[in-house]
Amino acid sequence: MADRDVLGFVDEQLQQLHDANLYNDIRVLDGEQGAWVVIDGEKKLNLCSNNYLGLAGDDDLKEAAIAAIRKFGVGPGAVRTIAGTMSIHGQLEEELARFKGREASVVVQSGFNANLTVIPLLVTKGDIIYSDSLNHASIIDGCRLSRAQIRVYPHLDMQTLEQLMKEDVDHDGNKLVVTDGVFSMDGDLANLPAVADLAEQYGCISMVDDAHGEGVLGSHGAGIVNHFALGERINVEMGTLSKAMGCVGGFVAGDARLIEYIKQRGRPFLFSSSLTPPEAGANLASIRKLAASDELVEQLWDNARYFQGAMREIGFDTGHTETPITPVMIGDAGVSAEFSRRLFDRNIFAQSIGFPTVPAGMARIRVMLSAVHSREDLDYALETFGDIGKEMDLI
Ligand SMILES: Cc1ncc(COP(=O)(O)O)c(C=O)c1O
Repeated sequence: MADRDVLGFVDEQLQQLHDANLYNDIRVLDGEQGAWVVIDGEKKLNLCSNNYLGLAGDDDLKEAAIAAIRKFGVGPGAVRTIAGTMSIHGQLEEELARFKGREASVVVQSGFNANLTVIPLLVTKGDIIYSDSLNHASIIDGCRLSRAQIRVYPHLDMQTLEQLMKEDVDHDGNKLVVTDGVFSMDGDLANLPAVADLAEQYGCISMVDDAHGEGVLGSHGAGIVNHFALGERINVEMGTLSKAMGCVGGFVAGDARLIEYIKQRGRPFLFSSSLTPPEAGANLASIRKLAASDELVEQLWDNARYFQGAMREIGFDTGHTETPITPVMIGDAGVSAEFSRRLFDRNIFAQSIGFPTVPAGMARIRVMLSAVHSREDLDYALETFGDIGKEMDLI
């Protein structure tokens, strides 16, 4: 018995991933994020980062991070409620709330943690959650942690959502409807005005995960609530600082009393150390940059329109995207992985995405466009996608 390999199951699991072409070959970047990155000593056109506005390598953000290190050091030293709250955290939360047009905000270590922080504070055992079937993993995990009943409605299906809400009309406890704003694997948008209407009609708290909306949608990239001019009609906005904002961190924005409550009871806020000073400093710089100019946001959309229009002309299926997220639908995970490998051989870094990140049989190359891509970069990508698509009989 003592010789039993208790971790033997891991070998089987890994083998299954290899057999199903779902094993992630993790690429290592040797340098900063940009339109081009260095991998294995070679320059590759970067088509798969969430660095929408190019801020991950921005000089002003770097300077702000260095200045924050000089003043505050590199580590926060503690969780926020003990000794880990520095003035730079307060400043970031204040400016972030203003940027989002909300009363207050609170930052945590990541977007994932922001969902784990807020959802279990809104609903608990005996309560009900309505969740879109394509919601992000961090929403799903936040919902599971809450122990509330989870009622999943088919993607974007507002009729079914209303039907479910009607069935629960006599329910006494809290009810929450939660959705991604921009769906990260398809680039389509939630019907947020309808979500707000239904939430108001049926007495539900409404919440949006705006991870892919910040820096992309709305005036100066303020996000999806701003894009649909919904003001305070969505009760809770959760977001990330790791994508368009160029750094790392997550936040919740909304009513001041909700934010106060999170600071008292949000578990990742209470039990995990705060954002580091350089992260807080860089995030502040990115919010200020966006508030001052929407030039980068415009550039991002120009690139998205150009690339997506040309891809469709070439004959690729780019799904239902309404944003710079560009799914190039392939279907079979093996074919999609092979497409990605051929791109890589021709110096294009664009990862294949398969199950469980997307449904089985709907593998795709997800192209992430950025404001820092030049027209030349995009033309090179279009030509190469076209060549490989023909080689593989996909177009
Ligand atoms: C919709 C959505 N929510 C939350 C997250 C998590 O954000 P972070 O990377 O800051 O943890 C992501 C990132 O992948 C996301 O796409």
